[in-house]
Amino acid sequence: MTSRYIAAIDQGTTSTRCIVFDDTGQVVALDQREHRQIYPRPGWVEHDAAEIWHNVQAVTRAALDAAGLSRADLAAIGITNQRETTLLWDVATGEPVHNAIVWQDTRTDRIIRELAGDAGPDRFREASGLPLATYFAGPKIRWLLDERPELRARAEAGEVIFGTVDTWLIWRLTGRHATDVTNASRTMLMNLSTLDWDERLIDAFGVPRAMLPEILPSSYVYGEARGDFGGVPVASALGDQSAALFGQTCFDPGQAKCTYGTGSFLLLNTGTTPVRSERGLLTTVGYQIGDDRPVYALEGSIAVTGALVQWLRDNLGIISSAPEINDLAATVDDNGGCYFVPAFSGLFAPYWRTDARGVIAGLTGYVTKGHLARAALEATGWQVKDVADAMVAESDVNIAELRVDGGMTASDLLMQFQADVLDVPVVRPTIAETTALGAAYAAGLAVGIWPDLDTLRANWRVDAQWQSRMPAADRDRGHGLWRKAVDRSLGWLD
Ligand code: G3P
Repeated sequence: MTSRYIAAIDQGTTSTRCIVFDDTGQVVALDQREHRQIYPRPGWVEHDAAEIWHNVQAVTRAALDAAGLSRADLAAIGITNQRETTLLWDVATGEPVHNAIVWQDTRTDRIIRELAGDAGPDRFREASGLPLATYFAGPKIRWLLDERPELRARAEAGEVIFGTVDTWLIWRLTGRHATDVTNASRTMLMNLSTLDWDERLIDAFGVPRAMLPEILPSSYVYGEARGDFGGVPVASALGDQSAALFGQTCFDPGQAKCTYGTGSFLLLNTGTTPVRSERGLLTTVGYQIGDDRPVYALEGSIAVTGALVQWLRDNLGIISSAPEINDLAATVDDNGGCYFVPAFSGLFAPYWRTDARGVIAGLTGYVTKGHLARAALEATGWQVKDVADAMVAESDVNIAELRVDGGMTASDLLMQFQADVLDVPVVRPTIAETTALGAAYAAGLAVGIWPDLDTLRANWRVDAQWQSRMPAADRDRGHGLWRKAVDRSLGWLD
């Protein structure tokens, strides 16, 4: 029998999933496991890399079992992952030498300020496409090697190696020390034009070249898996936001998607030439198929959106499950004058301010938990508007519609608000599992399950859409108040 199924591993910030797709791109089975969030100090966030690898194997086995399939039915494994999260491990034993430092972690704040010096946060933007920020992997490697000097000599000898989560999984599955261009573009160590490690960047961050993986395309056979999945080609790797762009089939310049997860990430396809941002957006690699030229994207990264709903559940207890936020928000007609800026990790795009902290503004005795719930959902809509406005101003592209995916797109209230404040249609596709689908598509292209991008485009269908209904005057007034609340959050730590 020919193998016609693809297992997409989606290793995210809070959980790991495996989704098995058939050769029409339909979901056949899914399994998911959460992993521990380790908070050693305020602002620090870590994951246990061994736990993640364990969960990847467990969910993949479970998804195959649920589908009644064996590894022989798999044409390929595709990988997509939380980006920037930084792992170091011992090449001989395979043991991590430290917990993974997660993208949200702000411990590298001092390193960032020192590196910015008089040159400012855009010191490395031309080469890397990124502003200096605690978000990226390069500063996290620097912190680990400064903190544990004994690791530096071992890293220089290639005994301790670095990887983002894709690299960790490719290495575990195939034994190859490799990453893909999209993940590499989030380290702040890769040159966006050459797609290779940049000597000036790795020198500035003090990262030995011997510890870095080789950089390969996103849709590409990295090698054959060993062990439980022995013989199955590992045929794609993409950072999760790039994978969602691919799964939404945003293959043409001007097409944009937003994924609403722990954070939210708006990516605009800008074609085969990188567009450097002057308005706080990131220039990043969208994807690269085999030897084709890479496709670049402008990105607006927002650190806290779904995480705010979790915070209302876990820290305040005003809801007992995330979806309840909608019911609570629906108990009121508006936000009651309340604005919520969830700057828990500082503010990312378009501000890039590590000194920002969360604020709730506009409180009066009238405000109820319903208004707070509504303000929390609206915070996501306003943050996405801020990055979308920057994107339109930057690229001269008019976003004609926004393709959306991720858990929060189940909120009708939020999606309507999003269309209202953006004043463009918001469109959700039938296959909501866009991130995993993107990894499956990229893997399927590499092993010949699908012949070309047109076949994938033809698979994309509308499930639901929302049109703007908000009068312009209301939008402008609300946006003005939101921006006032953002101003209050900036510089809180000064
Ligand atoms: O850049 C961070 C992003 O890749 C994390 O995505 O969906 O795991 O929160 P998610």
